[in-house]
Amino acid sequence: MANELNKFSKTLTQEVTNPAAQAMLYAIGFKEEDFAKPQIGIASTGYEGNPCNMHLNGLSVYVKQGVQANNDMVGLIFNTIGVSDGMTNGNDGMRYSLPSRDIIADSIETVVSAQWYDGVIAVVGCDKNMPGAIMAMARIGRPAIMVYGGTIRSGHYKGKKLDIVSAFEALGQKFANNISDEDYKGVIQNSIPGQGACGGMYTANTMASSIEAMGLSLPFGSSYPATHEGKKEECKKIGEAMKKLLELNITPKEIITRKSLENALTVVMALGGSTNATLHYLAIARAAGIPLTLDDIQVISDRVPFIADLKPSGKYYMEDMLEIGGVPAVMKYLFEQGLIHGDCITVTGKTVAENLADVPSLDFDAQKIVFPLTSPIKPSGHIQILYGNLAPEGSVAKITGKEGLRFEGEAKICEHESEIIEALAKGEIKEGHVVVIRNAGPKGGPGMSEMLKPTSAVMGAGLGDKIALITDGRFSGGTHGFVVGHICPEAFDGGPIALVKDGDKITIDADTRELKLHVSDEELASRKATWVQPEPRFTKGMLGRYIRTVKSASEGCVTDEA
Ligand code: FES
Repeated sequence: MANELNKFSKTLTQEVTNPAAQAMLYAIGFKEEDFAKPQIGIASTGYEGNPCNMHLNGLSVYVKQGVQANNDMVGLIFNTIGVSDGMTNGNDGMRYSLPSRDIIADSIETVVSAQWYDGVIAVVGCDKNMPGAIMAMARIGRPAIMVYGGTIRSGHYKGKKLDIVSAFEALGQKFANNISDEDYKGVIQNSIPGQGACGGMYTANTMASSIEAMGLSLPFGSSYPATHEGKKEECKKIGEAMKKLLELNITPKEIITRKSLENALTVVMALGGSTNATLHYLAIARAAGIPLTLDDIQVISDRVPFIADLKPSGKYYMEDMLEIGGVPAVMKYLFEQGLIHGDCITVTGKTVAENLADVPSLDFDAQKIVFPLTSPIKPSGHIQILYGNLAPEGSVAKITGKEGLRFEGEAKICEHESEIIEALAKGEIKEGHVVVIRNAGPKGGPGMSEMLKPTSAVMGAGLGDKIALITDGRFSGGTHGFVVGHICPEAFDGGPIALVKDGDKITIDADTRELKLHVSDEELASRKATWVQPEPRFTKGMLGRYIRTVKSASEGCVTDEA
């Protein structure tokens, strides 16, 4: 029997017991013939307030046209919230960012389920929007496709290419008196030329590339810049793809599998993607009911070399990737080298291997962005899972090897993200320091803030390769340098990071994968005996609820599990 394409929406459109719903559908413009058509929810995180999201409502209109034109479906656009990390102004705003991922997931789950849509297309653009949308798709289990809003083009000032991180680093240069007032202003005015997500292999481009590898967006979806004509064309083609998914009844359950998660994480490692991907893929896997742990991520990191010279640690931007064949060309190379599973089904209705069959191969003589596996930037992945007496439940380090594989130094405590900015301005952060930013975890922050300002300011101050930063918070995808985040248990829960004192010796070792505090067990036990759990910073509202429900970073900071 043919698959019923409107098997959810027919509850409203066909059953005689639903006259009110049918009256409402007439009210929004339904014609008689529309009542038998499948209904597709188009979830946009579009809003005017930032470049990552400003164009998404416009793209959603193209998606709707594609859904309705020649495809006998009805597209219905709705919006969810979105938060731009770049505009959160340090910890106070940033603490809302990670929770926004779960609100987006909840919102999409709620609308699609309550309104009986037969499928969902998410049009999303910034860091948390993508994993939020994918978590919802996994929960809902109806045909689903993600459309990425696209990367931003680079900015230019005085002959140099710039991006969002340039603006943050300019602040560090200002602290170090390395930039004139005119150039400081010039960098800020010209870093970002318009719409699109932050332009390096930061969290947005990391998630977009790896979600494409996982099979939940169309091939090249992560490679077209926001202003590229191909992005518009992709939006118009989505309807055809959705129709096929409905006909074949391919849902995220078929697409998100252990193997496709491995494909996603393989692309994260190969491209040098953001540490935030660990958090988001742990959460996506849990939403899909697939066991995935930090240790599984380490296994993938061990087997996949880091091969792409992309920002933040490298030279090139995401916009440059399209010229060398985009993410599909990289996937094809990894597939040919046995690092990608080819038999995973994708939103094209075809397997990864079938999608890649006609993709041109990377030309290693002509392009210098992606290196062959025989001469990688680092022979294994840059994301390392460290354990030790400072992180008994794990931590996530980004170690590209460019700064070395080991760092040993003295702790310099910052109880709040803003303290490091003040300390930098006063010249108190010195070579050899391991700056410990704590009480920034999922509960303590709350919201596990990203150390976007501190790390960029450190870089701008010229201390990037001279100090290390460790935290129970997170790092921006734009971070480079010796950094360890996601330290578990977090300080709020009495994890050892809460017990560190100024001047304690700390070792970060990527070879032994250890984060070690050189303090005896006895001394740590005595410090723990006098430790008092801080009052939660919020007891009511969204953040109060978040503190009560969020799981640890090593469990993806999910909020929908007991
Ligand atoms: Fe939205 Fe960077 S702040 S992609």
